[in-house]
Amino acid sequence: MKQWIVFEGGEGSGKTTLMAALEEHLVSRGMDVLCTREPGGVPIAEAIRRIILDPQNKELDPIAEALLFAASRRQHLVEKVLPALKEGKMVLMDRFVDSSLAYQGHAREIGLDEVRRINALATQGHMPDVVFLLDIEPIKGLERIRADRDSLNRLDLETMRFHEKVREGYHLLARENPNMIVLNAQKSVEELLHEILETLFP
Ligand code: TYD
Repeated sequence: MKQWIVFEGGEGSGKTTLMAALEEHLVSRGMDVLCTREPGGVPIAEAIRRIILDPQNKELDPIAEALLFAASRRQHLVEKVLPALKEGKMVLMDRFVDSSLAYQGHAREIGLDEVRRINALATQGHMPDVVFLLDIEPIKGLERIRADRDSLNRLDLETMRFHEKVREGYHLLARENPNMIVLNAQKSVEELLHEILETLFP
């Protein structure tokens, strides 16, 4: 059974809505579910995350950024995710290591192997059973978030070229990872949920 499920995708790809729909479905089947995202209400991880996303921190070095994401990830994993998995809960997670690989490794050009190394220490081999990549053209995703939010964070404000590279990075990862399932984020929530359930309960 697939117990640990991660959602990945660019800005405005609809992860949050889809995760909420999946959570509702799983709970209605009587499953015990933890739905979380880094930093996930873990205070130390949240403090780290505030530094990363603060639009004033323009001088944040790319490698420092990758290390901070990995530190936040580690704390959330140890304090929240691993205990939930141990209790037998199903864990739905909004973003994990592949975000760092696509954003920091590929788009910021630190290199996939470099970011993999940093994250190997942070995760110590704990990896999700399946990753759903919600694939969308950056222009369409950004239109969605501009319509929904009144403020944009430091990463939303990157150039269109950056968001295109994020998408390219995700595609590279999907090509080499059989556990990463690419979904067309422009489909309806119902259709996407159906595809996800087919993968989880074949
Ligand atoms: P957030 O507002 O939580 O974005 P979203 O709702 O799109 O998930 O901001 C998280 C931002 O951080 C988002 O732009 C993706 C980026 N990010 C990385 O660059 N590396 C990472 O490892 C993670 C987890 C997120």
